[in-house]
Amino acid sequence: MADNERTNVVLGVSGGIACYKAVELVRLLVKEGYPVQVIMTRGAMEFVAPLTFQTLSGRPVATETFNLTQESEIGHINLADSAAVFVIAPATANVIGKITAGIADDLLTTVLMATQAPVLIAPAMNIHMYENPVLQENLRKLRRLGYHLIEPAEGYLACGYEGKGRLPDPEAILEQIRGLIKKKDLLGEKLLITAGPSREPLDPVRYISNRSSGKMGYALARAGSRRGAEVLLISGPTALEPPAGVKLMPVTTAAEMRHAVLDEFATCTAVIMAAAVADYHPVGFSQQKIKRDKKPFDLRLEPNPDILKELGEKKNGQLLIGFAAETENLTANAQKKLHAKNLDMIIANDVTKEGSSFDGDTNIVTIIDRGGAIRSLPLMSKDEVADLIFDYLLTLRH
Ligand code: C5P
Repeated sequence: MADNERTNVVLGVSGGIACYKAVELVRLLVKEGYPVQVIMTRGAMEFVAPLTFQTLSGRPVATETFNLTQESEIGHINLADSAAVFVIAPATANVIGKITAGIADDLLTTVLMATQAPVLIAPAMNIHMYENPVLQENLRKLRRLGYHLIEPAEGYLACGYEGKGRLPDPEAILEQIRGLIKKKDLLGEKLLITAGPSREPLDPVRYISNRSSGKMGYALARAGSRRGAEVLLISGPTALEPPAGVKLMPVTTAAEMRHAVLDEFATCTAVIMAAAVADYHPVGFSQQKIKRDKKPFDLRLEPNPDILKELGEKKNGQLLIGFAAETENLTANAQKKLHAKNLDMIIANDVTKEGSSFDGDTNIVTIIDRGGAIRSLPLMSKDEVADLIFDYLLTLRH
């Protein structure tokens, strides 16, 4: 199916008391002009009648996998293919557990399994269920696999407890949906994105590296691919799953990364160097494990080539985007790098700030472009930062 036919907000409703808020969500979506297709689980139908969703969405609600009328009129693969975004709100612990385990035993989980659209999951449940380590482990796995999660709100819960577990207000869910229904505005771009740390070996078992997790680069690869770009991700060692649809090229040392980047540079339209490339490597490599000794050990290091600077000297129409992890004089240092490396944009972050570390899920960045625009952004997820970087990249292009 062509991307321009993926127009529906497919809303999966699972069985929790928060189903009543999903009704309001459908009303808001329809009011904004989104075509909405609702899928209900058996549990959901215990809380709200399908007729309520059907009346608001103006379409029959899908409920059964093996119902012949529904299958011929809607069809579970067509449903999956029609989604511009797939939302599950409320998502119960049960449905989250099934998705995490790869179980597709009802219509909602079957359609979800077949969709290629971005998926937004809004958990809502009792606070103790939400805090259960099994559920938390499942949420971590989903996040790692690129599912979008919206945190439950805190407050009075229908079960009588106070705490985290409420379905967020429908307006907040709507806002996330708007963000996910991005146009394929990066079609035609061939992006080269680097991520993660480099490792510089000393001997067969030891290396010098840094705390980069690769999360920023992987978020960029995910966002770029979702918005229609062809993405090559050249990544140092990380614990992350490569995003779907992205070509991954694993490397270890700065020298390997340089080699891979230079090989691909001529044919790409933009390079985003999010990797934390080690600035130095040990002089010489000991073929044998270095023995322990009573004397101090002198480690001699020599500089690695600055890959980005080399690209700045070679560039021929490609947009060049760099990162600057700083601990002082953020803007001034980043501006200096932007000019010294002949970049089009630089994303600076103060790695000493809470919420802006190498290995967290959030970032606080200042984005500076070659025209002199300086944008200091508040704390946001690395996924959100990635989308804004592409918004600014498009502004530079045009
Ligand atoms: O000068 P500094 O290392 O702080 O610049 C950071 C930027 O340069 C990042 O985008 C990083 O990926 C890139 N870099 C590089 N080669 C190096 C070191 C950093 O391409 N050897």
